[in-house]
Amino acid sequence: MQRTQHWWQEAVVYQVYPRSFADSNGDGIGDIKGIQSRVPHLADLGVDALWLSPHYVSPMLDAGYDVADYRDVDPIFGNLSDFQELINTLHEAGIKMLVDIVPNHTSWEHAWFKEALAHPPINDPAVPALTRYTEGPWARYHLLRGRENGTVEPNQWPSVFGGLTWHQVPDAAGEPSGWWYLHIFDKSQPDLDWTNPEVRSEFLGHLKFWFDMGVDGFRIDVAHGLAKAEGYPDFTQPTASDPTNHVAYWDQDPVHEIWREWREVAEQYDPPRVFVAEAWVNPAERNALYLRHDELHTGFNFPYLTAAWNGKALRRVIDESLHGNYLVGAPTTWVLENHDVWRAATRYAPLANGEEAASLDANLDISKSANWSEPRNLEIGVHRARAGIMTMLALPGTAYIYQGQELGLEEVFDIPDELRQDPAFANTGGENLGRDGCRVPLPWDNTSETFGFNSAEKSWLPQPRRWASKTVAAQLGDETSCLNLVRNALKLRKNLPALGGISLDSVDLIWDETPADIVSFVRPARKDGHAIRIVMNMGKASYALPAGDVLLASSEDAIVAGELTANNTVWLQA
Ligand code: GLC
Ligand code: CA
Repeated sequence: MQRTQHWWQEAVVYQVYPRSFADSNGDGIGDIKGIQSRVPHLADLGVDALWLSPHYVSPMLDAGYDVADYRDVDPIFGNLSDFQELINTLHEAGIKMLVDIVPNHTSWEHAWFKEALAHPPINDPAVPALTRYTEGPWARYHLLRGRENGTVEPNQWPSVFGGLTWHQVPDAAGEPSGWWYLHIFDKSQPDLDWTNPEVRSEFLGHLKFWFDMGVDGFRIDVAHGLAKAEGYPDFTQPTASDPTNHVAYWDQDPVHEIWREWREVAEQYDPPRVFVAEAWVNPAERNALYLRHDELHTGFNFPYLTAAWNGKALRRVIDESLHGNYLVGAPTTWVLENHDVWRAATRYAPLANGEEAASLDANLDISKSANWSEPRNLEIGVHRARAGIMTMLALPGTAYIYQGQELGLEEVFDIPDELRQDPAFANTGGENLGRDGCRVPLPWDNTSETFGFNSAEKSWLPQPRRWASKTVAAQLGDETSCLNLVRNALKLRKNLPALGGISLDSVDLIWDETPADIVSFVRPARKDGHAIRIVMNMGKASYALPAGDVLLASSEDAIVAGELTANNTVWLQA
């Protein structure tokens, strides 16, 4: 069994979404000083690292994933000295700091894009469709001649946020130029051309800028999107029945060269800095290519996140991800929530008619949320979210917790349309509800209208009144709360040697033979500790636990007469 050598191989990483964590100045938007004031919450929880969603200068048309200046902090969040202070405070508390970087696209307010717009292309009918325009500053982006004499988009590539991926730029007279730039996401997020050496070296500089300030690593946004298929060919979307179709802007082989360059920069530091890839890539073997020893250290495990509440499916995902990563010697990661997907309590909730809900979109298309108007049994959903996080924290490798997941928060649907900010909502005419429902500001206590998020009366998204009983303060006072469950689990995880290790070896997790809807595995004894058995009941009936095991932790009062009740997880000393 392999011992871990690096912190990132078995860390617990906590994601902070800065708009919604804590607001120090009462303008309704979370900020860096707010995070700073809540570092004790993270230290008490017992996490090893914080991952901060984008803090850069941005017009905030995609909540900061549209960066206008990669080397400064947006004034909404604070300034560079606040940022430096936060790093220092975290490091004093023994917590590492990862920040986001968004290399696939800039904001349309980035100096490079403004410079490009200041060089309007000429509408020349002789230019064939799909010709690249690479004059001057446009060489950093993908500007193509449209079809039908420039009047129609160059191809049919769909944007993740709705509509097509193309936006036409005006010519010098302000008339349509027949030239269109590529944006996989919103039109305010033009894609960079990563075959351009200037783009590549500029980003190496960005990495060094933040590494030099002391950040311990980066979460790389859309790490599978930077290389586009040559010739910009149309493609057929992969479907459940034919998942082999390849999207022309995802997971193209040349993307790996970029990560090799980045890895070299990280290795120049002592201790070496680290990367985590946001790559929505299937199958596990292809995903693992990003994690080769000279590429990125870790990557999110999205098949785990998107799996439905189903024992067979979950076991398969765990096996496939351990196996895929084993092939390249990388630790596996586990994630159930982030700022792009419905909260687990809502996803796992069965429909009110008793049927199980579907898994998240199998094409890994984050823009498609399930049917939100279908009523769900949230009470069961919350039980399952607790069981889910307990199972996740016992798996070998690194686990991610998204802010508020430790409180068992649910997705919020009752947000007035005019307050919704996710471009996916507007771009699809409201058909896609967007991601605001998992971005509602955290409830800390009952000291203010905003549950302690700030001392003012308003937050950028309204919080449901029912969260009064879900605040951090309320949960601290309740032994059976989700917060105390997660705190205890993290303590145990640190103290039980069997739960360490990164499973570079198949014997690091041994499945028990059980009925299909029971997920039960043993983490063998290491060092002087005991073996630990984890049992999750994803079925409807109670399940008789093996006699003689000692209960260490349980997601609820889970055991009745030696049987594990439905929707619960226990950790046992085997
Ligand atoms: C990633 C981010 C998401 C963002 C998108 C575009 O998927 O997680 O929030 O909208 O990239 O940058
Ligand atoms: Ca603020």
